[in-house]
Order: sequence, then structure tokens, then C-alpha cells
Amino acid sequence: MVDISFQDYRDSHKGPSKVKEYDPQFWISGTTNHLFWEIERILLKEIIDKMDPYPKRALDFACGTGRVLSFLEKHIEETHGVDISSDMLRVARSRCKSSSLLEGDLTTNPALLDKRFDLVTAFRFFLNAQPTLRKSALEAIALRLKKDGLLVANFHLNPLSLTGGYLRFRYLLKGTKRRAMLTLNEAKAILEDSGFEPVEVRGYGYLFHRRKYVRFIRLRAPLEKVLSRTNPLPSLAMNFLIAAKPK
Ligand SMILES: C[S@@+](CC[C@H](N)C(=O)[O-])C[C@H]1O[C@@H](n2cnc3c(N)ncnc32)[C@H](O)[C@@H]1O
Repeated sequence: MVDISFQDYRDSHKGPSKVKEYDPQFWISGTTNHLFWEIERILLKEIIDKMDPYPKRALDFACGTGRVLSFLEKHIEETHGVDISSDMLRVARSRCKSSSLLEGDLTTNPALLDKRFDLVTAFRFFLNAQPTLRKSALEAIALRLKKDGLLVANFHLNPLSLTGGYLRFRYLLKGTKRRAMLTLNEAKAILEDSGFEPVEVRGYGYLFHRRKYVRFIRLRAPLEKVLSRTNPLPSLAMNFLIAAKPK
């Protein structure tokens, strides 16, 4: 499957222009990424609510501008975020009022954090990170996760989804820029190879999404929400949340 990665993903979100390009897409009503972010909040809350005991301390790995962290801090007593990019963290600091935020790289400096967490989230990280970084990030997360803790990892472009299939067709036809993609099995294998056991998979983004804005949103947004809650065939959805436990 197509898997194009940055030379070193650690450098991918440095610089103010990257932040400007990245952050707004999740907050503009009517866009595909805004819809997916709405769905992610619903699914993430469902996963958290099922945890027994309910998590008290969470870490958002590669928290970026604090999108996911700002949600976690509404539901979890103690929340932390870590990211390598000072530019992304500047926005996270203004968005996340009760979380502790750390700038640094747990993969090269494990001493950065000494706490253990009930829950670790990592959104929009593994798909584009190069394989060596994926592996060292999972090792760093495993070190910080409690024995009965949970990792919730997000993967955001499946080549077997309608949208992924369309993009692959376009590469062939027009030679357009290739984007990283991972199937559900590939995503699960990445976690398994690093000592995690997937315990739940939630798929979302079943319909075809070609544009920045969702077409026929009044019809398609509720349909996407119903599909994400019924979770009929996650291996064909565009995005996944995979909840995994350390083996
Ligand atoms: C696409 S952004 C995702 C941000 C956030 N998780 C979200 O979903 O909105 C990827 C983030 O990974 C961060 N990153 C890359 N390598 C990292 C590392 N080794 N440790 C921590 N963060 C890292 C980047 O700086 C960037 O903020």
C-alpha cells in the first residue's frame, strides 16, 4: 500500500506557517475535518466511558495545537500533552487551560516525563511518521502507560476506503502527489509489532469525501455519525481509532 513518509516526521510541524495551515481545518464548520473531529469526540468519549476504572491521568502524545487535549481535559482529572514543536505548543497553551504541556521528544529523552498514565492518545501521528519513529514512539508510550492502561491511536487515511481508493486512482491517472495511507490490518500490525494488543476498533468516514467542505452536509453529516456509531465495516472506513492495551 502507499506509504509516503516525511524524512523525519519530527520536523513536520515546525514553523508558524505550518500551524496556520494545520489548526483551522478542524474548527471551520461544514468542513470534512470538522465533521471528523465531531465524530472523534463522540467515539473517544465512548471509549473512555467504557474504561474501568475511569481514567484519572491522561497523556496526549504529539498533542500539536491541543485539539484532542482540550477535549480530554474536560473529562479527565489530570491531563498532559507533549510535542516536539514549540510553534504547535504555543496554540496548545492558549487552548488548554488545565493541562501541563511539555516541549520535547520522549523517543530520544524518556526522562522528560516520569509519570505513568491510565490513558495515552495519539492522533494524526502514526500514519505519517516514518517506521523507525513509529516504533520508538510506541516504545516511549509503552514505558509511560500503566500495565492496565489504554492507548487510543488514530489513523486517518485508509487506501481501502472510498476516499482512499479515489486518491489512489488519481495518483495513477494524473501523477498527483502521493499521501501516506494504511489499511486497518497494517495499522493494527504496527501496534502489535510494538507489543500492543488492539482491543477495539472504531471506523468513521464511510462516505466519499473529495472536497474540503462536506457536500449535502445536512444529509451526509448525520449519516456519517450513524455509521460511525454502528461501526459496520471499519476496514472500509477512511479513519480509524484503535484502542490497544500493552500485551
Ligand atoms: C499532524 S500533527 C497532530 C497533532 C494532534 N495530535 C492532532 O491530532 O491535532 C502531528 C504532531 O506530531 C508532532 N511530533 C512529531 N514527532 C514528534 C515526537 N517525536 N514527539 C512528540 N511530538 C512529535 C508534530 O510536532 C505535530 O505537532
